[in-house]
Amino acid sequence: MRAVVLVGGYGTRLRPLTDTTPKQLLTVAHRPMVEHSVGHLAHHGVTEVVLSMGFRPDAFEAVYPDGRCAGVAVRYAIEPEPLDTAGAIGFAARDAGIDETFLACNGDVLTDLDIGGLIERHRTTGAAATIALTPVDHPARYGVVPTDDNGRVLDFIEKPPAGEAPTNLVNAGTYVLEPSVLDRIPAGRPPSVEREIFPAMAADGTLFAMASDDYWVDAGTPASYLAANLHLVDHPEGGTHPEARVDPTARVCGSVIGPGAVVAPGASVDASLVLDGAIIRENARVEGSIIGPKANIAAGASVTGLSVVGPGTTVESGERLDGIRRPEPEG
Ligand code: GDD
Ligand code: MG
Repeated sequence: MRAVVLVGGYGTRLRPLTDTTPKQLLTVAHRPMVEHSVGHLAHHGVTEVVLSMGFRPDAFEAVYPDGRCAGVAVRYAIEPEPLDTAGAIGFAARDAGIDETFLACNGDVLTDLDIGGLIERHRTTGAAATIALTPVDHPARYGVVPTDDNGRVLDFIEKPPAGEAPTNLVNAGTYVLEPSVLDRIPAGRPPSVEREIFPAMAADGTLFAMASDDYWVDAGTPASYLAANLHLVDHPEGGTHPEARVDPTARVCGSVIGPGAVVAPGASVDASLVLDGAIIRENARVEGSIIGPKANIAAGASVTGLSVVGPGTTVESGERLDGIRRPEPEG
């Protein structure tokens, strides 16, 4: 089975971390997000992945120059301009010559989803497409997907107004697709799979879905990106990287500290993500926040409340950042 993985978005909700780095190259437990998603696909038998790229394709090519990612052969489909989610799936699938049942996935989702089970369900119902669903607390941020008892999708409502979601089951961003779906994707403009293709398929009864309680997170916001990292804190590959330097008088608790990062004497880091090469200087305090690569938190500064400090950015001595992004993203 082949899979198209969408990694072409701008990652605006994660700015300034994504100002120049694509979201899927940000690390979760010290490995780029895309390696988790591609590795998960490989674990379920996927042998070739087409990375559907738009923003900074060169960054992926630099990290995976030999066309392999997480042990899988990857092919790069580079869009001439942003094609939106359906346009991206169509472009990548055609570029790779896909002409049989295939998978498509959002590249910012980390999950233990049983893909084999999803494919099996897809074959049983004879659907043109089957989407994985997951229960969430705040469905309005996602694609909301009511189904009948047989799993037939009744409607697909992308990001409904708050309080108007008919169910808490949402699109988990993994799809099994028949090549016939490609014929529904118009050329010449950027069509959205969530706002156009899936609603049309729901209307003609060819779209099915299957819910599961498997671990699932869309790591596309500061809160969920931090949570995805903290989820793996106790994993042998999470926590403090062997190439980080934490002073014995520093206090690091429930946090991910990247390679080359330094936590100086008397500093404390709690429930946070400190990315590669960042420096937390003497007596600084970091709590529930994300410190970007090579950022510099000066002595005695405090960074709390889901603050996000961008790559190479300094927080001066004695400053207090609480729920702040630095630098503040434009727009
Ligand atoms: N190649 C390409 N081109 N990729 C794109 C484009 C594009 O124009 N636009 C977005 N993507 C990629 C993003 O990089 C991401 O991996 C994926 O498509 C989904 O985009 P997001 O921007 O992360 O969407 P979302 O999180 O708001 O909503 C989507 O995901 C939810 C679950 O994770 C939707 O699919 C929702 O329905 C879904 O519930
Ligand atoms: Mg997302």
